[in-house]
Amino acid sequence: MCGIVGYTGGRQAAPVVLDGLAKLEYRGYDSAGVAVSDGDGNIDIKKAKGKLKILFDLTDGGKSFNGTCGIGHTRWATHGEPSQNNAHPHCNDEHTIVAVHNGIIENYSQLKDKLTRRGYTFYSDTDTEVATKLVDYYYKKHGEPLKAISEFALHARGSYALAVLFKDFPGEIFAIRKDSPMVIGVTDGGALLASDVPAILKYTRNVYYTDNHEIVLLSKDGVAFYNLDREEISKTPTLISWDAEAAEKGGWEHFMLKEIHEQPEVVRNTVNYFLHDGKLDLSELQLSEDYLKGVSSITITGCGSAYHVGVVGQYVIEDIARIPVRVEIASEFRYRKPVLGGNELVIVISQSGETADSLAALREMKQQGVKTLAIVNVLGSSIAREADGVFYTKAGPEISVATTKAYSAQLIAMYLIALKLAEVRGTVGAQQYSSFKRELTELPEKIAKVLETKSEVQKFASQMMDKKDVFFIGRGVDYAVSIESSLKLKEISYVHSEAYAAGELKHGTISLIENGTLVFGTLTQKALAEKTVSNLVETASRGAYVAVLASQSVEGIPENFKKVFHIPDTDEHFTASLAVVVMQLFAYYLSVLRGNDVDKPRNLAKSVTVE
Ligand code: M6R
Repeated sequence: MCGIVGYTGGRQAAPVVLDGLAKLEYRGYDSAGVAVSDGDGNIDIKKAKGKLKILFDLTDGGKSFNGTCGIGHTRWATHGEPSQNNAHPHCNDEHTIVAVHNGIIENYSQLKDKLTRRGYTFYSDTDTEVATKLVDYYYKKHGEPLKAISEFALHARGSYALAVLFKDFPGEIFAIRKDSPMVIGVTDGGALLASDVPAILKYTRNVYYTDNHEIVLLSKDGVAFYNLDREEISKTPTLISWDAEAAEKGGWEHFMLKEIHEQPEVVRNTVNYFLHDGKLDLSELQLSEDYLKGVSSITITGCGSAYHVGVVGQYVIEDIARIPVRVEIASEFRYRKPVLGGNELVIVISQSGETADSLAALREMKQQGVKTLAIVNVLGSSIAREADGVFYTKAGPEISVATTKAYSAQLIAMYLIALKLAEVRGTVGAQQYSSFKRELTELPEKIAKVLETKSEVQKFASQMMDKKDVFFIGRGVDYAVSIESSLKLKEISYVHSEAYAAGELKHGTISLIENGTLVFGTLTQKALAEKTVSNLVETASRGAYVAVLASQSVEGIPENFKKVFHIPDTDEHFTASLAVVVMQLFAYYLSVLRGNDVDKPRNLAKSVTVE
């Protein structure tokens, strides 16, 4: 995820900005840049591909930059490859307006066309250059920065934290945000902005959290906030009491909890990046629509949670695109001699893009001449480099060993691929297709709703502290949720658990059910819910403590079940995105209660690069 920093005040700006960017390195980036305006308003820009150190060396730690007002950026590529040209800051042709941006402008291609018709030329592939020139256009029209920024907000769709320098207003930074984070700090004789608190903590502990569509004006006299009508609004700062390490976690107790809460943003970013202006654009994947039309079968492979995403994908792709799909554990697949279909597509899923077994499976398939597509989070990772096509999820760096937000972004990748296949093969009607797209864009809000139930989950976890064995059961997509829930619980709470296809339990495993054994059923598939309820009743009558997680409109849940969690209704293909959040929280709270090292569970590594 990109990071932005800005400073104006009595000090030389570039060292402060570079220092702030260094504190945001944990967000991940592939290039960086800084712009500083000197006393006369002349704006100097330096940017470089690669690590911040290159920029440090280029500018002597920022000292070679003259000026006390500056903005900086670390870029995690979304539109356009990582390169110096695509790195921020971007500027207008006259170098009088310079901007950095974090987020995704969804309608950037429409805006680019409009601006091109009005005589603008573009030199990078980025949506940020479009944003900068949009501000430039309105500034030239109205001659007023606040008006230009509010017009930008009225015309740009998507998410952004945007900071702009105007040559005509030396010493001032204008900024605005929507759905991308931006905090503001005030110091003695200056002001700062950043994507996250750690970047400014060294200079101030008084922080303003900006809301969507608030415009901020930073100057050496402090900060002023405005609404889109350019009326000044008053805000109260928050005093940050965390230390630097806690600040990196954004005040959350653990990275896992932070990452769980980032899921609405991550899902929004991934959906909006590929689905905009009503169109699903997967051209970046390098798989032509003609090719996708002719795919005869699909194999999805991965390890751990990535494999579990594949299981969801199998249900969803088969159901809506009517293509045979199999899912294989990468460590098995790589050593099998699978019979591959004529026009088979192999999809490898991996957050890190470095998992040894997944990489080996990919290489094996490539050697056999099969077309491969990687779903990867880490830019430029081995799997991303070696696959024929790449779907980059927009989860940002994931630090906690237990995956949460990357898993959620991978689910979105599966849904979007399923939808594209259905579109090119004509397997769903227009109305159904629109409804799928609508449901996808509503998922972030619904995930946020599920997060609101966290204290209920926490209380439940505290009541389940003494459980030694837990069984998760479900059918269809609910089975896929169950295997992920079980892994999450084992991984961080060290409580033994198993996941079973609900109908399979009675073929042996039911003998493990004793008085008080926790059996957690997932019920989001209406047509299958009744069957799973029967299986849960079978366990209850053998003494199980039955809890269920059900979509709001699922009926027929027996009253003697001990606990019922509800999640909002959504299209049944996408329910894993909501159900998993409750299970992540359950595993998290149980782990905390048991005093475990949540982010670094025993015996595990974030990226498993050995066989
Ligand atoms: O980086 P990858 O997605 O390839 O990692 C695969 C698994 O190692 C990973 O999902 C693992 O199961 C997680 N720790 C689960 O939370």
